[in-house]
Amino acid sequence: VSLAGRDLVRIDDLSIEEISALIDLARRLAPVARGEVVTRVLEGAILASLFFEASTRTRLSFGAAFARLGGDVRETVGFTFSSMAKGESIADTARVVSGYADVMVVRHPEAGSVQLFADAATIPVINGGDGPAEHPTQALLDLYTITEEFRVLDKPLEGAHVLFCGDLRYGRTVHSLAKLLNLFDGIRFSLLSPPELSLPDELVALLEDRGHEVMVHTRPPTDAKVDLVYTTRIQRERLEEEMTIDLDPGLQVNRDFLARVGTKDTIVMHPLPRDSRPGALDLSTDLDDDPRLAIFRQSDRGIPVRMALFAAIMDVAEGIEASFATPRWRSSRSFG
Ligand code: NCD
Repeated sequence: VSLAGRDLVRIDDLSIEEISALIDLARRLAPVARGEVVTRVLEGAILASLFFEASTRTRLSFGAAFARLGGDVRETVGFTFSSMAKGESIADTARVVSGYADVMVVRHPEAGSVQLFADAATIPVINGGDGPAEHPTQALLDLYTITEEFRVLDKPLEGAHVLFCGDLRYGRTVHSLAKLLNLFDGIRFSLLSPPELSLPDELVALLEDRGHEVMVHTRPPTDAKVDLVYTTRIQRERLEEEMTIDLDPGLQVNRDFLARVGTKDTIVMHPLPRDSRPGALDLSTDLDDDPRLAIFRQSDRGIPVRMALFAAIMDVAEGIEASFATPRWRSSRSFG
């Protein structure tokens, strides 16, 4: 797979063939992600990582993925210490950074902002999240996770019943994953959220127009046995100031919830971070020892997926295994 020189701003930038090729490549790169083998294919390349919004896993995993391929990472974090605090435009910043690095990843609080970076940059730009709009690399790692989890269960993706819950209005990971799953056939979507946080109408229409069944709920469905629960944090930082949401405790994904909507083979995913503050009613910790909870297998998979994307964009994917070598070091990590 080659995406040489291309941007990734939204899921629509990729064809279904390119997406499957990226997932296959991620699988081939998993031993590198785990540190079992090493490679230097991106030696000399520089990633500029520009994060204007809070992040732990996306920023670290982009950097770690690039470093695992032998490249170097240079970062700026937040508006305060960037020249945007001096009034610099996105276009000027993007052009300047293009002279310092070979590829750029940007997270920014405004929808559409990363496209402005891509328009002005002379190097490939990857969207690490643009406000409530999209988070395409999260969707790729989510799809990789679904594929791997379903493979173990011997279940096809086609025909699966997916329950999205939480903040479907402002949760950009849901938006990108819904667009990605929309490319497959015959998926049943159940959408569960407080009424104020429902999936935008244009996304519902997109799924329906492609022939998927879409069911909207404000209470957990009683007659459903879903294959996947994908739950999300309420994006409080995106709510308008006067907006207070009365959270219904019945919408919290926990052991009881899963007993009602799931089976022994239902996978539970969450893009993380999970809001563990009292009253947040995010994904409960009472499922932490349940093997159906895939959240940390999911976050682990951010590394091989982002490596695959960099390898494709920087055109080193072909025959990449020839560059694999045995590491001289060892760490004590284990993967579940
Ligand atoms: C998500 C994000 O930033 O959109 N986090 C992530 O990248 N895994 C989800 C969230 O913040 O709730």
